[in-house]
Amino acid sequence: MKVAFLKSTEKDFPPADKPEVVFVGRSNVGKSSLINMVTGRNIARVSKEPGRTRAINYFLLDGKVYIVDVPGYGFARVPVQEQERWKRMMENYFLERKENIKQVFVLVDSVVGVQKQDRQMIEWLEYIGIPFTVVLTKADKASQKELSRALRQVKDLVGELAIIISSAKEGKGKKEILSMIFSP
Ligand code: GTP
Ligand code: MG
Repeated sequence: MKVAFLKSTEKDFPPADKPEVVFVGRSNVGKSSLINMVTGRNIARVSKEPGRTRAINYFLLDGKVYIVDVPGYGFARVPVQEQERWKRMMENYFLERKENIKQVFVLVDSVVGVQKQDRQMIEWLEYIGIPFTVVLTKADKASQKELSRALRQVKDLVGELAIIISSAKEGKGKKEILSMIFSP
């Protein structure tokens, strides 16, 4: 797979000539790791420190689809000002690219489960009408009990909609995510 990093800014995105899929979720949930896992490249920056990804980063896959890595939400130690900036940046991004986004992957940590901000994100996506899929991350770390609890929470929230269980560490969920990314 060919992967190219494209420079973009908060207001200036690549041309909307190819569809895009975006990975959202709480800080540290594993967005960048999952992008690396599905592309098989070390392109998105991963860190133990929450708040690693600070910009909206575009990657072009095989010249066909954009993958978008965005900063995470809900990291308590981030100053309020910074959280506000995130909110503005994301709202602007979604409103600007709404027509071009074919899928949003909403990542939820299998160990932590669904949090208030995940619910808000999903409600907002439903409200503006962008299709999304919930991806449970770090399945390798979760106990059976934690995983079933997270699954139950997601099902209560979005019904029997598609849910993908993933682990960037073990390569779990790669096929499912890739097939959604390249689906027509
Ligand atoms: P921000 O950019 O800060 O919002 O974080 P992010 O959502 O991009 O998370 P990132 O991919 O940087 O991963 C955060 C931490 O979780 C890192 O220490 C990763 O190594 C770890 N991690 C990510 N995915 C997995 C996984 O599937 N299994 C395990 N065990 N650890 C993971
Ligand atoms: Mg990141």
